[in-house]
Amino acid sequence: MPWTPNLSVGVEIIDAQHKKWFEYADKLFEAGQKHQAKEYLGELLAFLDDYTKKHFKDEENYMLSIHYPEYDAQKKAHAAFIAQLAKLRSDYDTSGGNLMVILNANQMVLDWLTKHISNMDKKIGAFAKSRQ
Ligand SMILES: [Fe+2]
Repeated sequence: MPWTPNLSVGVEIIDAQHKKWFEYADKLFEAGQKHQAKEYLGELLAFLDDYTKKHFKDEENYMLSIHYPEYDAQKKAHAAFIAQLAKLRSDYDTSGGNLMVILNANQMVLDWLTKHISNMDKKIGAFAKSRQ
């Protein structure tokens, strides 16, 4: 599932990070399907975990900079997602790198982010535009 223009938020830094995020989620999914080394999947998962945290922080800082009114709801949603990713990592570790665990969870994570961008992040761009 790639990033598509209909997911554009209209804020350059956010869109660029979303694109990169999808790229890595896709890499993880492909690696899982190709039965690539467990260590490599673990590395990708760790990268996605770090990158997600960095992205959310940047997005939150951007929201603060424009005095975005739904900042708190966004922060809560981000925290829930980070918890979900942490669970995915621990499931992966405890299952000994079971592929189904990672493929199912990866799909779940992609669906979540796609919905989050459509329902919540797009509103950030709309708000930023209305202030100009
Ligand atoms: Fe967000």
